[in-house]
Amino acid sequence: MPESDLEELPGVGPATADKLHDAGFDSYQSLAVASPSELSNTADVGESTAADIVRAARSAADIGGFETGSTVLERRNEIGKLSWHIDEVDDLLGGGIETQSITEVYGEFGAGKSQVTHQMAVNVQLPQEVGGLHGSAIFMDSEDTFRPERIDDMVRGLPDEAIDATLEDRDIEGSADDEDAVDELVEDVLEKIHVAKAFNSNHQMLLAEKAKELAGEHEDSEYPVRLLCVDSLTAHFRAEYVGRGELADRQQKLNKHLHDLDKVGNLYNAAVIVTNQVASNPDSYFGDPTQPIGGNILGHKSTFRIYLRKSKGDKRIVRLVDAPNLADGEAVMRVQDEGLKPE
Ligand SMILES: Nc1ncnc2c1ncn2[C@@H]1O[C@H](COP(=O)(O)OP(=O)(O)O)[C@@H](O)[C@H]1O
Ligand SMILES: [Mg+2]
Repeated sequence: MPESDLEELPGVGPATADKLHDAGFDSYQSLAVASPSELSNTADVGESTAADIVRAARSAADIGGFETGSTVLERRNEIGKLSWHIDEVDDLLGGGIETQSITEVYGEFGAGKSQVTHQMAVNVQLPQEVGGLHGSAIFMDSEDTFRPERIDDMVRGLPDEAIDATLEDRDIEGSADDEDAVDELVEDVLEKIHVAKAFNSNHQMLLAEKAKELAGEHEDSEYPVRLLCVDSLTAHFRAEYVGRGELADRQQKLNKHLHDLDKVGNLYNAAVIVTNQVASNPDSYFGDPTQPIGGNILGHKSTFRIYLRKSKGDKRIVRLVDAPNLADGEAVMRVQDEGLKPE
């Protein structure tokens, strides 16, 4: 959206439009869902001007007021479910990972959190009839764990019918047993994963803004962004805010970051998956070692919380925790060379 359009809003001149734009508010929609104090802080405008801007943006964007139940239903009807291609896990999640919300995957080092994000970056691209969302993915990598080679393995490891349907969907001639066709598919899948490394927590927060822009640019494309992965959400924050005195500051930053990620999911109907490592020190005096970093704030913002833990060999236990409309429960999967597979 050009800055001149922002100037249509009351109290917004060219200078303020610039500031808003620099702060990542580049549409009526993004302004409409901002809080006046957030706007006031990030765009350096007075609190009451900010309130006016938000109010005007809400009426211009036609969102933010009360909605009828049927409108809510309409939006909820658009919620996509992203399949794991593991029946037991999909059943546990009521069909798969949902768009328009944040899913937190937490567990110890080596539990398979990064494997989940990689697998979903593949699965999201599949056509809907084989459990995908016909979308592209954004991958924010803060631990340098993104590996195109794993994507390659996982595409080749998809069930034949998923490969066949995806080849057809992309007009690639051939079938699952045709090496050239699958090579081409691997390349095409990699093309639709937008990866950025986050060098520190501030950079990571900026990348959330970039992700929003990217999702906006792809909104009307053939493969709109339907997945945003942040692997890991917390590593930088944990490393940078160490002392007890910095805890509040860290939570506040994390909260803002999650808020930004949530916006991308809601505005663009994307699933947001964030990973979080739990402390594995069993004799920790401070709380339960199986509790994720970030504690409550993360808990309230994420709709699904999935606790992954290692079992025998390549087996992993997938536990659903505190889901609003679903029963808590567990499923088993395997982490294999070909990707995540049923038991
Ligand atoms: N190519 C592969 N083939 C089989 N298993 C793999 C492969 N790559 C990774 N894994 C499994 O995934 C585990 C690492 O999972 P990862 O997602 O990196 O853990 P986390 O992100 O939770 O620390 C490894 O311990 C290994 O068991
Ligand atoms: Mg990892």
